[in-house]
Amino acid sequence: MSTLAAVPEAYLAALPAHLLASPLDFILADHLRQRVLCSLLDRLATRPRFEAGIAREVLAHIETDMAIHVIDEEQDLFPLLRRRAVPGDQLEPVLGQLSTEHAEDSAHAGLIVAGLQAALDSRQDALDAPLRAGLSRFAASQRRHLALENAVVMPLARQRLSSTDLTALGGRMAARRGILLAPEEVGPARQFSRGGGSDAHGDTVFRE
Ligand SMILES: [Fe+2]
Ligand SMILES: [Fe+2]
Repeated sequence: MSTLAAVPEAYLAALPAHLLASPLDFILADHLRQRVLCSLLDRLATRPRFEAGIAREVLAHIETDMAIHVIDEEQDLFPLLRRRAVPGDQLEPVLGQLSTEHAEDSAHAGLIVAGLQAALDSRQDALDAPLRAGLSRFAASQRRHLALENAVVMPLARQRLSSTDLTALGGRMAARRGILLAPEEVGPARQFSRGGGSDAHGDTVFRE
């Protein structure tokens, strides 16, 4: 059994499927896991000895859950918010910045994945300095990105999205993961995640 601290790594475990019935809560939980990911990136960047187990966990998360999370935002959450926001929300510059960062992060993540995979394949004892620096930069940029999403996007989503929007959002996120939400799972989410804003959004919503 590994002697690695169990608490932080546990956050990278899969989220419960039923949480998809409250899609904004699922996204926030994903953000929490991404903060844990940042801590693991810093750990790889700073510890003298290469920790292969941590590297594998980081690779798996970047290549699967984190990649899907970005698709959730780019294909579903952001377009939906653009339709529901009002001019006074001044949301467009924020979403534009976040989308730019998604593209930049994708390229950066590719370099990190390649570097860590090479270190694993060659059974390195220590990571080289450029890769360490890249890991630290990626962690820092992710933390800034998460702070902006949590401070601006998620509160506005709570306020602007209707129960119908949230049901559709959760359904699409579940489908992306090959999960079919049961009706009894969807019902409570409508009440729990409903924001305090207008109820004049109408029916909805997603078009391909
Ligand atoms: Fe996010
Ligand atoms: Fe994002």
